[in-house]
Formats: sequence, C-alpha cells, structure tokens
Amino acid sequence: MKFYLSLLFVSCYFSSIAQNTLKPLVESTKGMVVSTHPVASAVGLEILKKGGNAIDAAVAVNFALAVCHPAAGNIGGGGFLVYRDAKGQNFALDYREKAPLKGHRDMYLDEKGSIIPGKSFVGIFSAGVPGTVAGMVEMHKKFGKLAWRELVAPAIDLAKNGVLLTEKEARGLNRNKEEFKKENPGKTYLIKSDSVAWKAGEMLIQSDLAETLTRISTKKLKGFYSGKTADLLVAEMERQGGLISKKDLRKYRAVWRQPIIQGYKNFQVIGMPPPSSGGIALAQLMQMVEKYPLAQWGPNADSTIQVMVEAERRVYADRAKWLGDPDFVKVPVKELLDPRYVTNRMKSMSFDQATPSKEVAAGDFPGYESPETTHYSIVDEDGNAVSITTTLNNSYGSKVFVGGAGFLLNDEMDDFSAKAGVPNLYGLIGTKANEIQPQKRMLSSMTPTIITENNQLKMVVGTPGGSTIITSVFQVVLNVLEMKMNMQQAVEFPRFHHQWLPEQTRFEPKRFSADQLQRLKSKGYDFGTSPSIGLVEGILILPTGKRQGGADSRGDDTVSAY
Ligand code: GLY
Repeated sequence: MKFYLSLLFVSCYFSSIAQNTLKPLVESTKGMVVSTHPVASAVGLEILKKGGNAIDAAVAVNFALAVCHPAAGNIGGGGFLVYRDAKGQNFALDYREKAPLKGHRDMYLDEKGSIIPGKSFVGIFSAGVPGTVAGMVEMHKKFGKLAWRELVAPAIDLAKNGVLLTEKEARGLNRNKEEFKKENPGKTYLIKSDSVAWKAGEMLIQSDLAETLTRISTKKLKGFYSGKTADLLVAEMERQGGLISKKDLRKYRAVWRQPIIQGYKNFQVIGMPPPSSGGIALAQLMQMVEKYPLAQWGPNADSTIQVMVEAERRVYADRAKWLGDPDFVKVPVKELLDPRYVTNRMKSMSFDQATPSKEVAAGDFPGYESPETTHYSIVDEDGNAVSITTTLNNSYGSKVFVGGAGFLLNDEMDDFSAKAGVPNLYGLIGTKANEIQPQKRMLSSMTPTIITENNQLKMVVGTPGGSTIITSVFQVVLNVLEMKMNMQQAVEFPRFHHQWLPEQTRFEPKRFSADQLQRLKSKGYDFGTSPSIGLVEGILILPTGKRQGGADSRGDDTVSAY
C-alpha cells in the first residue's frame, strides 16, 4: 500500500513539474547552444548562424565563458570534449591539467605526513598546468571551419567593453572577495574594497584578460604557452612560490583518446575515458540498472532511488581504487565494463535494507595493482554534436589571478589523491592510481556525454558539480530514456547523490517528501541535503530532427537556438 502511495506522490509531483517547468521549453530546427550563461550561449549561436560548425561554436563559447563566467569558464583550467560528427564518428579530446614537473606525491603533506589543510585547493600551489587553450587550438585544427580569430573575437570584445553581471555572478564575486584579496597580495585587478560590493547589472570590464585573449587570438598556442602570457604566469609562480615552469607550459599537449561507448537497450552512451572517471562510471551505472523496471516504478520512486543509490555506491568504490591517468597507470577498463562483473556487483543489493558502504569494496582484478565546473552542449544544423565540460575545479579555482594577464588559475591539484584514503574537497577517496606524479593528469568526474539511438544522434548532456557530476548526468539520462520527460523537465527534476563514502545519500532540500525520506531511512539509508545538485545543460534530438533544449533553472543556464 505504502509503495503505491509513494508512486502516487511521485507521479503527482512529476505531472506538476511536467506542466510547469521553471524555464520554458525551447525547440528549434537548426542549431542549438546550451550553456550556463546567456551571453555565452548567444555568442555560440552567432557563430552557428555565420556558418560555423559545432566545434567553431564550442571554441567561441569557451572563450566567452572565460570572460562572463569567471567562476568556472576559463583559460587557466582544463576540460574534456566528447564529439560526434554528422557522419557518426566519435572522438574524445583530453585537455585536462597536469601536475607540474616539480610536483611530487607528498607535496600537500607536512613533516608528520598529515594533509596541510587547504594547500591543495586554494592558492598558487594548488594549480595544475592549464590545458584549455591547447584543447581549443587542437579541436579547431582538426574540425574547425571558421578562422580562429573570428572565434576569439567575441570574448575579446566582452573583456574589453564589459559584460553585465547577472545576480548569480555578482553574488559569486562578492562571496569570494576575501579570498581574492588574500591570494592576490598587492593586486587591485577585479578586487573591490570592503565597503563596495559587485551588483547585478554592473559592467565587468577585464582589460588584462582582453590583452591575453588578443595574444591567443593572434598567436594561438604561442599566445599562451610561451611569450608574454607564459612570462606573466611564471612570474606569478615565482612571486608566490608556485611550481609551474616555462618547461611545463612548453610541454603541455592536448590528447585525443578513445571514447567509452556503452550499449543500453537501443541506445549507445558515448563518454569520456580516463583521466575522467565519468565515462566508465556512467557506463557501469547504466549497465547496473538496465534490468530493473525503472519506467514502471517512475522517476524518484523509492525503488528507483534505491536501485540508483546502490549502483552509485558500487561504482564509486571502483572509481576510488582503479581510476587514474591512463598515461601513468593501467586502468582495467575492459574488466570494469565486463557485463558479468557489473551484473554480479548488484547481486548483493536488497530492497529491504541499504548495503552498508563498508561492505562494498572495489572489485578485484588480478594482475592490476563545485563545486564549480561548467558544461555546454551544442548541436549544429548538420548534426555535429559537441559535449564539453570544463573547469577550474572549485569556484574561481585557486583564487589566484595571474598578475597582468587577468585570468584565474585552477586548483585542480586537489583532484589528485593527496594522501591515500583521505577525502578531497568533494569527499572523494583515492588510492595509488590517482597519487601525484610529475606531468600526470588528476582524475576527474567530468562526464560530457552523447547518446545515440539506433545510431542516430539522440542527446547531448553534461553538468558541473564535482563528485555529483556523474550521478546528475545519470539521473537526467534516465529521466529522458526511461521516464520519457522532455529535455527541460529532465534537467529540472529533483536530484539526489550517493558516492560510496561518505555513507550518506544527499537530496536536494524540500524536493523530496519527508515521508519518502523517512521510508528510506527505515531501510538504513542515511541521508543529508545539498542546496542544489548539478547545473545540467542538455539537448535532445526529437524523431522529427527538431532540437529540444534543457537549461537548468538552478543557474543562469540558457538555450540559444535558431
Ligand atoms: N574538478 C572536478 C572534476 O574534474 O571532477
């Protein structure tokens, strides 16, 4: 009886969401860009309308986000591209940051071997060697149609002439004011005095950034990894005792990798391979839940939540043990995705009682030893599809502006396991596979994803959110494939998250009934809340070929389309 009541509650809630999404449903017939900032989405759309393809638009959106969304848009960070061209070929580009040559395993430990609080996620020492500009140059070289300069121009214009702050952007800058001051001694760039706050509608002008972007526009890689920008970046390192050298910058390369492709019913899920954990984790999750009647149970019904949480628990245990940079450690991809292994993992699941996380160890394979990020999805008129997640790691990364160059450095080093078994900023545990080594890429959770159905493009999706990235993408994908929501409903639907350790499952507050949480608690599910989980940007391709956008109402996310 209780079970049906819970279904009834969920389906009433679902139909109210279905009718009243907070942002309007946008559909179009040609090109579509969904990003976390209205200006960046508009920039991408302009490029598509000028005849640029999805990659051209992606490059322009990236540089625009670096100006209008400095919390996560970046040139001082890194990211991943999953790309499917109109002919159906799939590609994955890794432009993740790397540990500096002078980095080493114990660089965040004191003499007693304890973690030095904060050192890996704030300040100059937390920065990895940036990969974003190399990624943009590489994807444009291989697939771009329009001239490079045309793609950087809108960002230069925004930096030079200003971009209007949204309320969310103003709030973010104000919240980080103290840390900006602390990490940027002697600088005034973008730093206001105590009595003055950033306001929505105020113009943000970034002249130093405009000059750096101009160097990138004219010299591509050399405008960032050598010459004046490199001089300024290394001078900042020397001023503050950071580790990144000119040699680190010269050696940085973006790398093409084989995407992870996983079947699910009639669909194919195309994701990012290591050094992101996103593609493997999503592929495992989809396999683990495939045999359950999720559509019959309904979205966020008790049984649906239980199956998804138990799958997440098992997948994050594997993530902690096995995943790292494939250029440094052998990641057992085939074994982790083996259907027999994945199916077996769910055998210990019971609908009566949560499996305690301490009873879920990672699998054993003999022979093997915001949370602020941002995502954008683009589909052009021809059907080329781009899914990009990019990050500085935490909001505004290390909080360090490169003096005279006007951009923020990432704090991506915290995504390494600074000490085996000790949680990072996102509570994620790591082991040897993800320990720091010079030139190694730190493990990521970013999950840029493309889905096809019977070999036709179906969905482009991704999100920020640190460790919650994988589970947010998982939920939105199931909302569409199983629960038949439209793209806007799917991204707005209430979310929950579990990551093996800590034991707790986090729910968005006030979006799940107290009764439901109590029922789950009585089965042993420990739960807490997170104010909001993820900011998903998705595009769904309808059978008619129409593009349908999903822009998360948790942020400034915007669909621009024609
Ligand atoms: N910095 C978040 C991630 O890469 O997972």
